[in-house]
Amino acid sequence: MPTPDPAEFARVMAQVPAPVTVVTTVDATGRRWGFTASSFTSLSLDPPLVLVCPAKTASCHEAFVTGTRFLVNVLAADQADIASHFARSGADKFAGTPMRPYELGLPGLPDATARIACTLYEVLDGGDHSILVGRVEAVHAGGADPLVYHDRQFTRPRGLPALQTSLLDST
Ligand SMILES: Cc1cc2nc3c(=O)[nH]c(=O)nc-3n(C[C@H](O)[C@H](O)[C@H](O)COP(=O)(O)O)c2cc1C
Repeated sequence: MPTPDPAEFARVMAQVPAPVTVVTTVDATGRRWGFTASSFTSLSLDPPLVLVCPAKTASCHEAFVTGTRFLVNVLAADQADIASHFARSGADKFAGTPMRPYELGLPGLPDATARIACTLYEVLDGGDHSILVGRVEAVHAGGADPLVYHDRQFTRPRGLPALQTSLLDST
């Protein structure tokens, strides 16, 4: 079967709704690093693992793959401006943001939908990205509706009634 055209692949993947997170760390010199990431997902319950994938070309890549810990801030529906801000390379991304130290002493957002703090468990190769596997050390649920990235736009869950109250109800 022929490999899909990269533009077609990107177009199809744009149809897959994804969470919007800002992932942060602090390096050995105390410098803060952060980037907007939709490549965040849970991986394992026992042990508790999650993953997120920084591009190898990102200026923050080195800090994350050589670091010891990172914090995933799952953005709330009204935090699209923060997502755009942390998706831009350049000067100090943290200046003028509400980031302050939270779990594991890492920069976090007080109004995030959730925060998941990890120690670095493993770094895997993921083509032009690295796969950071994090062992979950602390969690915080803020409860706000999440921001969603779909069709290259920020959106929010539509508030439709759940089709079933729980997956377990259907079994
Ligand atoms: C909605 C959204 C999701 C993104 N997801 C990722 C991602 O999962 N991995 C990644 O490397 N870059 C992702 N990016 C791009 C990075 O945020 C951006 O390239 C990053 O800020 C560059 O980091 P740097 O300033 O350290 O170079 C995403 C951007 C947006 C707007």
